Amino acid sequence: MSFVIAHITDTHLSHGKPFFLDNFAVVTAQMRAFQPDLVINTGDISLNGADDLADLRDAKALHDDMGLPWRAIPGNHDVGDNQETASRQPTNAERRARWLEVFGQDWWVQDVPGWRLLGINSLLLGSDLPEASEQLALVSAAVSSLETRQLALFLHKPLFHGTLDDADFGGHAVNPAPREQLLAHLGAVTPRLVCCGHLHEYREQALGTLHQVWAPAISFTLSDWFLPTHGGEHIVGYIKLTLEADGSFETELVQPEGLVAHDLADFPEAYGDLRAIKARMDAQKDAAE
Ligand SMILES: [Fe+2]
Ligand SMILES: [Fe+2]
Repeated sequence: MSFVIAHITDTHLSHGKPFFLDNFAVVTAQMRAFQPDLVINTGDISLNGADDLADLRDAKALHDDMGLPWRAIPGNHDVGDNQETASRQPTNAERRARWLEVFGQDWWVQDVPGWRLLGINSLLLGSDLPEASEQLALVSAAVSSLETRQLALFLHKPLFHGTLDDADFGGHAVNPAPREQLLAHLGAVTPRLVCCGHLHEYREQALGTLHQVWAPAISFTLSDWFLPTHGGEHIVGYIKLTLEADGSFETELVQPEGLVAHDLADFPEAYGDLRAIKARMDAQKDAAE
């Protein structure tokens, strides 16, 4: 028996800044037609839930309205970014509490035939919040009782870009120290699947028996001049993930008709003027050299 997951990510929803609601509606309608067993949103579910409770509530209501079973884990725009990553919105107890109030627990485990799905809050990794170690304890517990199931790990940021020893990518992946902690708690278990979002880039990569899927965003893409791709593609869409009871799986890129490949540079009211931000970043880089 197959278990079908619609892995969506980076919906960036807000009624106050409703730029990407249309794309979410297109995907919702298309998913309703094929009725996946579960929809999983791997974060940046809201446009600015890190500072605006209303955006979190909007995103929650829009997901409830799908009429489909769903789960989510937070992204940096929902609960703030990793503390070790330079950010004007670091994750903290207050931001995380807002997520818990609206969405409930930010980590979860669900078993389906042949598989264990493990969702974690990747922004909590390496933080000074006491719940960071609680989450790692959950990871240990989840793998110690895995038995013959395959593990599918869901998190917002890619676990790695090239290898599990990757350097720091400045917030574009789980950073080395917290990744090491996470891997230590996974012990001898290598996830068969790692499913993430964050970079608004579609990429699939194999590393030994591990298959990592960078799901494309539902909301918008980024221009190469702002953020070059990391070996994938700047497109919009989502991933249909079919899990089989024998531990095998298939992934399929889905790009429903009507989905618009918005470029974030065309929406300065969302996160600022990207051209000006890029000019500032280039000037800082030049000054440092
Ligand atoms: Fe995002
Ligand atoms: Fe993100």
